[in-house]
Amino acid sequence: MSERRTPSRATASSPPPTPAKLGAFPAVRMRRNRRTGWARKMVAENVLTPGDLIWPLFVMDGQNKRVPVATMPGVDRLSVDLVVAAAEEAVALGIPAIALFPYTDPKLRSEDAAQAFNPDNLVCRATRAVRKAGLDIGVLLDVALDPYTSHGHDGLMRDGEILNDETLEALVKQTLVQVEAGCDIIAPSDMMDGRIGVLREALESRGHTSTQIMAYAAKYASAFYGPFRDAVGSNSTLKGDKRTYQMDPANTDEAIREVGLDIAEGADMVMVKPGMPYLDIVRRVSETFKVPTFAYQVSGEYAMLAGAAERGWLDGDRVMIESLMAFKRAGAAGVLTYFAPKVARMLKG
Ligand code: PBG
Repeated sequence: MSERRTPSRATASSPPPTPAKLGAFPAVRMRRNRRTGWARKMVAENVLTPGDLIWPLFVMDGQNKRVPVATMPGVDRLSVDLVVAAAEEAVALGIPAIALFPYTDPKLRSEDAAQAFNPDNLVCRATRAVRKAGLDIGVLLDVALDPYTSHGHDGLMRDGEILNDETLEALVKQTLVQVEAGCDIIAPSDMMDGRIGVLREALESRGHTSTQIMAYAAKYASAFYGPFRDAVGSNSTLKGDKRTYQMDPANTDEAIREVGLDIAEGADMVMVKPGMPYLDIVRRVSETFKVPTFAYQVSGEYAMLAGAAERGWLDGDRVMIESLMAFKRAGAAGVLTYFAPKVARMLKG
């Protein structure tokens, strides 16, 4: 090289600092953005708000009645008047929707699930009462026959088999009484084939063109539903398991097919259930379809966290927030959670 470098003024008096290697320590110190509370807040990639929550409630007969669910510490079955009070509380807390599940009197459970089509059944009465209170809140009702069948299955049964197409007719009847009672969101949780298309067609042809459908699209045959079945009283009646219609926990591509079908058939939103053990599915579904994807933090997940907190084994408030943030991180638009009122109260300050 013939060219001679002219030394800069700096090097003339003192050697230049060795330039920090870009992209490596110490130029990069990840802890800078974590050092203070305000900085952590500034760089947070996800937030949890009361608007992300859907609050599931268990409805029972009676007046001013509240009966604890033994396997879900902090959760009660409520009579209709108290459901209205809970809905008022939800509005005050900024929770956008409630989901109602019935505890049906065993005498009203039958082979044909007739109580599901009774316009005066518990969930219809509760929905009408919430509507009558004029509250600005979404009411979501499950479509599935399990709270109404004597055998505890989600569909009609013959010779031990759950019948698909016959069940679809029953689901249409159930859907119509629920929509006529004033429910906004129909949430089919039965996992029969073709249900979303049949229900959408039934709604459209009767002028219920704005009823939303949130499909329990990827619903697994899970042992995490145990406490819910206590709450609705179907654990004692359930014969066998639900593996011929709910999904095998071993599968993930199958969830994508299920969700794709439900969207094609007319679902507005989809759900993955259970939640925490299936966060990979939440992530895949939300990334693949870009439709509002919800997760259900089911009764067994709630029981694990609330039960451990009750014994002092976990910090209840912190695991509650952390478990819900996980759903946001995985791409969920919202979460059905029994923690809803508690977490909303906490988030409000
Ligand atoms: C009814 C239904 C179930 C749940 C929601 N809807 C139970 C089941 O499929 O056996 C479970 C919710 C929970 O565990 O919190 N099909």
